[in-house]
Parts: sequence; C-alpha cells; structure tokens
Amino acid sequence: MTDKTTLTIIKPQAVRNLHSGKIIDMILSAGYIIKAIKMVTLSHDLASKFYEIHKDRPFYENLVKSMTSGPVIVALLEKDNAVQDYREFIGSTNPAEAVTGTIRNLFGTSMQDNAVHGSDSDENAAREASFFFSEMERF
Ligand code: CMP
Repeated sequence: MTDKTTLTIIKPQAVRNLHSGKIIDMILSAGYIIKAIKMVTLSHDLASKFYEIHKDRPFYENLVKSMTSGPVIVALLEKDNAVQDYREFIGSTNPAEAVTGTIRNLFGTSMQDNAVHGSDSDENAAREASFFFSEMERF
C-alpha cells in the first residue's frame, strides 16, 4: 500500500436510499480508480472491530447499529494523495457542514449516516484495506 490508496464505504442509509450509483459515478468522475469493490453486510462484531478506535466515544454504539442496518459497498480507491484528497472530496464528517456538492452534503442525513466513510490516514487505509479485502482482491 502506498499513499495512492484509500478505502471508502458507502454506508447502509445511502445504499438503502438508492444513492450508490450516483456516488460511484462521482468517485469515478473525480479520477479515482476502483481497484476492488464489493457489497457486504457487517455483523455487530465486525462493525465494532472496524470502528474500535472510537469505542470510548458516546456515538460508538449508534454508529455500529447504523453500520449493521443493511448492506454496505466497500471499495479500494487509487489516486495520487488518495487519503487526503478523498476526505476533501467527500466533505466534512457532519453533512450539515459539508461543502455544497460534496457526497456528504448531497447524500448524508446525520453525523453517523454521513453517506460514506473515507480512511483518515495512510496507515488506517492499509489497515482497513486488509480488514475488508484478501491479498488476492487487493492485488
Ligand atoms: P466515518 O468516516 O465512518 O468515521 C467514523 C464515523 O463516526 C464518522 O464517519 C461518523 O459517521 C461518526 N461520527 C464521528 N463523530 C461523530 C459524532 N460526534 N456524532 C455521531 N457520529 C459521529
């Protein structure tokens, strides 16, 4: 893994509201290459593990509940400076504060249901990539 890769998750609320196609189109149009993609449904254990760095935060249980409420689409994205650029591209964590036209502004409905996740560092991108994808899938 290099600084060319980030991991995104289209969250259950956005999948449920049929926004996945529009979100994937925006990602591709912005120049990200999809290296791997799949739809999965997270168990409580897996979602808890994925977000374990937030386990002491007050929103943790609700976040896990939301992330297990239906299928998600997970993708590995490639582009120069992927982590930083993608975070800027999707907008602030709080959709109400996200720049107009960003994915979270357009499709997020709350802090926890903010349409998409994006890795927050190269180190976490690598951890998250191996969490969701086998070595063969990450090629
Ligand atoms: P995500 O990029 O998936 O990474 C961690 C998630 O925690 C974040 O998006 C939000 O959905 C959620 N989150 C962060 N801060 C808060 C908060 N103050 N209240 C509710 N949810 C939050």
